[in-house]
Amino acid sequence: MRKQIAAANWKMNLTLQQSEALMNELLAIPHTLNENQQAVFGVPFPYLINVKNKLSGKKNAFVAAQNCYDKKSGAYTGEVSAEMLKSISVDYVILGHSERREYFNESHAMLAAKVNISLENGLKPIFCCGEALSVREAGNENNFVETQLKESLFHLSAAQMTGFVIAYEPIWAIGTGKTASNEQAQQMHAHIRSVLAKQYGQAIADSISILYGGSVKANNAKEIFAQPDVDGGLVGGASLVAADFAAIINSLK
Ligand code: 13P
Repeated sequence: MRKQIAAANWKMNLTLQQSEALMNELLAIPHTLNENQQAVFGVPFPYLINVKNKLSGKKNAFVAAQNCYDKKSGAYTGEVSAEMLKSISVDYVILGHSERREYFNESHAMLAAKVNISLENGLKPIFCCGEALSVREAGNENNFVETQLKESLFHLSAAQMTGFVIAYEPIWAIGTGKTASNEQAQQMHAHIRSVLAKQYGQAIADSISILYGGSVKANNAKEIFAQPDVDGGLVGGASLVAADFAAIINSLK
């Protein structure tokens, strides 16, 4: 059975002190994660070790980096390698977020290389995809997302794709307070799963967790997560409020 995942993406927010206060508050709120559910904290690089330590002994709670570089090591001032992340016991890495594609010009090919080096180092990618409003208005969202998956993931083996994690984040829903409707989310998640099934077979497609991202809040998470092909969420703004993210974790199937 595929994992149900509530993943926080703090983006470039919070000081160390604020991040500690948030984690302390969150960990004080009772929440239960069953065998099949995970909470993942995508935090800025400087806080990874600290948050990892705070989660020690907690079952099914993991940390994620928000990016890594696509080269092994060397003269790349300011970059962080997958090997470095692994050496501090990071579990996941968010790759291909639309903000990175847009502001840092991350291409399909660069993302394929980042996926590869992450897997080589034992990090689990959370691979983001999703279309801009203009693409949806042109009725081209299915093809657009399919191309993102094909260009950056379809070189992977069946074994590498088993249990993989994808996040569908329509750009028009990120930080706008405007979520995709339950139907829009389910339709695209089913499309993504069918594209995966065509390439890898139904059993592998069924093992892949497809998270929804884009204005997931405490008051809408349950209905979105209840859609059959939605396996949790990747959450920005609401993950910065302890009570809200706890409620989102508690909304997992
Ligand atoms: P919001 O939840 O703030 O819309 O952000 C979504 C997102 O980009 C998560 O990666």
